[in-house]
Amino acid sequence: MDEKALVKEADEVRSVLRNINWDFNQKVSFPPSGVKPFNCRKHHWFPATFVPEIPFTLIEVLTYPQAVVYDPFAGIGTTYFQALLLCRRPLATEICRVAIEYMQSLLVLFNPNIEHKILKEKIKNILTDFDPGKDYIGSVSATLIKKLKPWYSENVLNQLAFLFVKEANCQDNTLKSAMRISISYILKTESAQDKGWGCIADNVLPKNYQIENSKNKNALYLFEKRINNLLNDISEHLKYVPKEYKQLYQDIKEQNTIFYEDVRKCAEIPNESVDLVVTSPPYPNMTDYVKSQRLSYYFLGFDLNKDLMKEICARSKRSRKNALQDYLYDMNMSIKNISKKLKIGGYACFIMPTFTENNKNNRERKLIVDKVMESTMEYGLFLVDEYERILPSIRRSHNIKWATLEKEKIYIFRKEG
Ligand SMILES: C[S@@+](CC[C@H](N)C(=O)[O-])C[C@H]1O[C@@H](n2cnc3c(N)ncnc32)[C@H](O)[C@@H]1O
Repeated sequence: MDEKALVKEADEVRSVLRNINWDFNQKVSFPPSGVKPFNCRKHHWFPATFVPEIPFTLIEVLTYPQAVVYDPFAGIGTTYFQALLLCRRPLATEICRVAIEYMQSLLVLFNPNIEHKILKEKIKNILTDFDPGKDYIGSVSATLIKKLKPWYSENVLNQLAFLFVKEANCQDNTLKSAMRISISYILKTESAQDKGWGCIADNVLPKNYQIENSKNKNALYLFEKRINNLLNDISEHLKYVPKEYKQLYQDIKEQNTIFYEDVRKCAEIPNESVDLVVTSPPYPNMTDYVKSQRLSYYFLGFDLNKDLMKEICARSKRSRKNALQDYLYDMNMSIKNISKKLKIGGYACFIMPTFTENNKNNRERKLIVDKVMESTMEYGLFLVDEYERILPSIRRSHNIKWATLEKEKIYIFRKEG
């Protein structure tokens, strides 16, 4: 394939990109009647996601409509859904089945023909069937209940069991998608483990006092609230999409664009077919993406350990002697494959950590990240520009490891022939 990339010239856009405040720490005002960034994380918890303004801006500034935009480390699809709203053609690869499930379900709900009002009514009707005096736990698979029981009070588990039964029996694909997203979301918030994602990732079961404190939680109320918020948010965003959106959505629905695949292997995406990559790879030894979704893995019946084996540099593997060298190797494999997918002249934007060199651990991690970024040239990717951004304090404080990371860098590369 030797197609011309649907991108703008670097000289045309450099001054625009240099004038952007990449911190996005203040509310950015988008035109009231224009397409706005969609925050996937509002509707499903996931660690270290993009602020949606980053991919939104890069896609809008660097490409033309219909450009193919690919996120190889897609997470819950922040790049994917900005591309869709901006009428570009999105592609995603990801090894976490829970994140794949979320992206696929969300895509169903982005159908411009869905009547959100009717969907909300259906959810309301489902909930009227709930009888607090009835036991629903007995109607759910004993294996699932065994896994979930230690994480919830009896009362909450019974409400969840009611939702599991309703979801399993639901024949309407749109309704089912909305239910799966909401159930998956509330599994974390309604859990008695209130000490953050690290405890869920590390399988730290809630103590008796935490179970006791959580017994008045109302999973059904939250389930409905989450779905309504999601549908309202989607409606608000679809109001302003250009008229081409309908046709584009139809095309995308008929193709496979979300791949449950390891970026180092991904064979599904043809070589030289992508105009723009916007991605944030896992940072070395910092986060457990797969393990943090443990409760959703149980609900959806996916194999957590299988996905964990493919996860690059998970925090849980940090004590391995060669963890950082493995990171370098895995990232080189990834960049090599990502570059193959790009058209000549296409751009690749990587968001990477900037470690402060205040201790040995951080000095080593900085060195490895520098090496990863230097290796891009070997694969035909040449630096166009780079921008530093300061991380919002919320991302610095919710985990001791994050506390050491204050800045990130956005690197923009271009593939040369
Ligand atoms: C920083 S997160 C990306 C978050 C994403 N930008 C978002 O906003 O949702 C990195 C992602 O890389 C995924 N990942 C790790 N190893 C991978 C691999 N070998 N192939 C594809 N994805 C992988 C993780 O599961 C995680 O979702």
